[in-house]
Amino acid sequence: KPTSPTGKADPLATLGQDNRAQAGDHLTTAQGVRLPDTDHSLKAGRRGPTLMEDFHLREKITHFDHERIPERVVHARGAAAHGAFVANGAAAAVTKAGFLAEKGRRTPVFTRFSTVLGSRGSADTVRDVRGFAVKFYTAEGNFDLVGNNMPVFFIQDGIKFPDVIHAGKPHPDREIPQAQTAHDTFWDFVSLHTEATHHVLWAMSDRGIPRSYRTMEGFGVHTFRLVAADGGTSLVKFHWKPVAGVHSLVWEEAQLAAGADPDFHRRDMADAIEAGAPLEYDLGIQVMPDTPDHTFEGIDLLDATKIVPEELCPVQVIGRLTLDRNPTNYFAETEQVAFHTGNLVPGIEVTDDPLMQARLFSYLDTQLTRLGGPNFTQLPINCPHAAVNDNLRDGMHQMAIHQGQAPYLPNSVDGGAPKVATEAEGAYVHRPRPVEGEAVRANPASFDDHFSQATLFYRSLSEVERVHVVEAFTFELGKCYEQAIKERQLRVLAEVDADLCAAVAAGLGLPAPAGTPAEDVVPSPALSQIPPGPGPVT
Ligand code: HEM
Repeated sequence: KPTSPTGKADPLATLGQDNRAQAGDHLTTAQGVRLPDTDHSLKAGRRGPTLMEDFHLREKITHFDHERIPERVVHARGAAAHGAFVANGAAAAVTKAGFLAEKGRRTPVFTRFSTVLGSRGSADTVRDVRGFAVKFYTAEGNFDLVGNNMPVFFIQDGIKFPDVIHAGKPHPDREIPQAQTAHDTFWDFVSLHTEATHHVLWAMSDRGIPRSYRTMEGFGVHTFRLVAADGGTSLVKFHWKPVAGVHSLVWEEAQLAAGADPDFHRRDMADAIEAGAPLEYDLGIQVMPDTPDHTFEGIDLLDATKIVPEELCPVQVIGRLTLDRNPTNYFAETEQVAFHTGNLVPGIEVTDDPLMQARLFSYLDTQLTRLGGPNFTQLPINCPHAAVNDNLRDGMHQMAIHQGQAPYLPNSVDGGAPKVATEAEGAYVHRPRPVEGEAVRANPASFDDHFSQATLFYRSLSEVERVHVVEAFTFELGKCYEQAIKERQLRVLAEVDADLCAAVAAGLGLPAPAGTPAEDVVPSPALSQIPPGPGPVT
């Protein structure tokens, strides 16, 4: 049997050979009783009626009736692949997480790419953000890097996540549009919540219509805290850099592909892997000092609407991800995989970013519904490759047969086992950090700068990329029914760049409002050192 790095049988390697469901040569019921016929129900006489006693009919139909599980509340449409991450040793100085730090260490991974807004059957090439979620089956337990293909987010505080998603999803009355941002409620929300502006610029750029998953960057978005073997800490942002380079579709291609082949991206990935051309990405980190105010060059590292430009803090490559094996069963793997920002291993911690803090609650909570109770970690795709001994018991869909009498600690009945570990033995010990202040519902003042990085992004683009941004805004806003929403969004664009605003206004046939740069906001002086385009500042 193939084994994991820990020497334990690899549950994923045997996924396609699960003999609980497909053993033996004969068709049977779920109870293992052989069947003579599965095409005719048991009837009273050839012309019926059908008899209730037909256990095969009832079992077959009942199981079918319950085949579907709820799709993800966001990121419902996705495709995934298996592979491995190999560290190059460059992270050894900043983290004790062995899978990142140890040169040559190979860690199995499962990576799911997704769109955000569309339902499970929607098209791949719509204008949207793409999810880039990686589950690392490390020897110390599972670590999930649940990122996107854009380095910033629409909101600064997770309490607004239901709002931004309600605004982006189809209108509740007509359920249109199916999978994109070209509608009133999306533009209503982002024009009223100007913190979304930077992310909106990315979404309206060519990054919103990637050529393929192979040619897409990925970002952890938030600032993480890495803990080194000597206890030292640093603040870090994660980046995935595709070895094949970053490439996008043009809008006309995206539209044609959505019609001619709605599976354009998942087909591309699966075909490439099958043809022996794996997907490859370098994992990089931007490393910044762990200062008490969590800023770097005046940029607030707890604000997920801000990047740290690579010109100010270069990305250091720490390893390579290769995706080279297609799933054998979409439901068992791609649909049932459960990523969670709270799946952390020693050496990687979170920060106080209020968006990240809300995510730490949301993923496990939603999966309790989506995957039917608390035992989904036992599903093969979610099973850690590290030994599990968790004292968690019972619950819906329990598959383990736990032994012993005392699932609590300490105990004197089962000999006290299992033991708790020390940090030296690999326990996840949270690094002590000061937490202070009054309980308030308010942001730090630095969160009020909503435009400077949106401007920086737009001005970093080449001329042809800027034209694409103008065309995207014109098309998407042009789908709004409400004139007032278009006018409000134009006033937001005036804060970003007067030429951008004028060009979009002309496209919409509306007058361009005058720009009035926001008062009381002091953008980081370091940003002004970055020269304008061509090429996006990431
Ligand atoms: C799903 C990324 C913010 C709640 C996902 C997925 C990704 C992702 C990639 C798909 C996972 C998969 O493939 O199964 C992000 C990023 C965010 C962000 C990068 C911001 C930086 C949030 C916030 C919340 C949230 C603020 C809630 C407070 C969810 C939920 C799911 C999800 C509920 C569905 C999970 C499931 O059903 O398994 N997110 N997300 N996300 N996200 Fe986020």
